[in-house]
Amino acid sequence: MKNGIRVQGGGRKACSPSKMTVRRVNILILVLIAIAFLIIVHRNLLSLNDFLRSKNTDTLPGVLHPFDPDFSIEFARKPEVARTGDEIPIVITAAEDRLGAVVAAMNSVYRNSKSNIVFNIVTLNDTADHLKTWLSKTQLSEAKYNIFQFEPKILNGKISKDPQTAENVKPLTFARYYMPMIIPDAEKAVYLDDDVIVQGDIQELFDTNLKAGHAAAFSDDCDSASSKGIVRGAGNQNNYIGFLDFKKEAIKKLSMRANTCTFNPGVFVANLTEWKHQNITSQLERWMERNVDEDIYSRNMADSITTPPLLIVFYKRHSSIDPMWHVRHLGSTGAGNRYSPQFLKAAKLLHWNGHYKPWGRSSSYSEIWDKWYIPDPTGKFHPVRRHTEDK
Ligand SMILES: *[C@@H]1O[C@H](CO)[C@@H](O)[C@H](O)[C@H]1NC(C)=O
Ligand SMILES: *[C@@H]1O[C@H](CO)[C@@H](O)[C@H](O)[C@H]1NC(C)=O
Ligand SMILES: *[C@@H]1O[C@H](CO)[C@@H](O)[C@H](O)[C@H]1NC(C)=O
Repeated sequence: MKNGIRVQGGGRKACSPSKMTVRRVNILILVLIAIAFLIIVHRNLLSLNDFLRSKNTDTLPGVLHPFDPDFSIEFARKPEVARTGDEIPIVITAAEDRLGAVVAAMNSVYRNSKSNIVFNIVTLNDTADHLKTWLSKTQLSEAKYNIFQFEPKILNGKISKDPQTAENVKPLTFARYYMPMIIPDAEKAVYLDDDVIVQGDIQELFDTNLKAGHAAAFSDDCDSASSKGIVRGAGNQNNYIGFLDFKKEAIKKLSMRANTCTFNPGVFVANLTEWKHQNITSQLERWMERNVDEDIYSRNMADSITTPPLLIVFYKRHSSIDPMWHVRHLGSTGAGNRYSPQFLKAAKLLHWNGHYKPWGRSSSYSEIWDKWYIPDPTGKFHPVRRHTEDK
């Protein structure tokens, strides 16, 4: 170690030639290490930049990537009735514990439209094979679809570490924040929760007109169709104060009206050009981080923690979708027989938001959902129903 010490003391005049060589080699090593370090830093900055600009899915570092690099084989199996025309990209998530939901939802979309639909299904890594097997045994095998893997680590630091919250976090519910990364080349797209059934032609929803400067269109919670199903006694779950803590400085500063009507982010149409232009994804992430630090969401919130950042970012900056394209609360207690059969028939899209899912034990209107459900060929998933249990 003597040599090493000497080298660090460098700059002395009298040195033997061998010591000089050692010193040169050590300096060379230091320089190389420094260069390597700079290269690494530079690369990380570059990929961070790409990521923020969300320009290129290929370079998204471990966030979202096509699950199966050869999914194009699936594309090559052309449907018998080729669907032409402009593509309608649909983003939907597939969670293992409710995989029947996405299959029923996709089936209803596909069979009620002749449009050129492309499903972009976001999953976690243990689900893709199961889903592919399931789809391959149905008419949906003809449909165009891509499967993406969501990497939950993108949410690190953005969700409160409170163990109770952490346990309830369903990473896939945040996939909608990352729309432009899932489908970077699409200008317009539809997002659907998995607990919906579509009865109209999805083209109609896709054709929703978005006003200039608006990155998305939602259905407001106070429109006539949706307020029909609002559950009494659920607090203020249809205005902003039900989701955000208006006593917190960060929220006060936004000067939003606490009684503003909320919208339901389970169904929306997005202009992804505008989304990228306004950096909607980074804005949403920033609000998640602020909640970790400042606890800005309402304590009484019954709904998903994905909603508050969307409410802030899209406050008075969103267009509306036709209320019949988002008839909701079918999964709420007491929604019971609130809707008449005629109304349900006329609805273009039904949403079982709430605790009582149509594949669950005691939900309303599950007979409508059953019409679109396709049983799991692997036998892993089955709807839980009281009548089947009673047998
Ligand atoms: C993905 O797969 C790996 C190995 O099979 C597993 O360790 C990991 O927990 C999985 N991740 C998710 C999000 O399911
Ligand atoms: C999306 O937004 C961009 C930028 O504001 C606009 O030029 C474009 O016409 C919009 N596209 C659609 C389909 O609304
Ligand atoms: C969006 O981000 C880019 C680069 O990160 C920045 O130059 C631009 O000003 C941001 N735009 C908005 C509207 O915040």
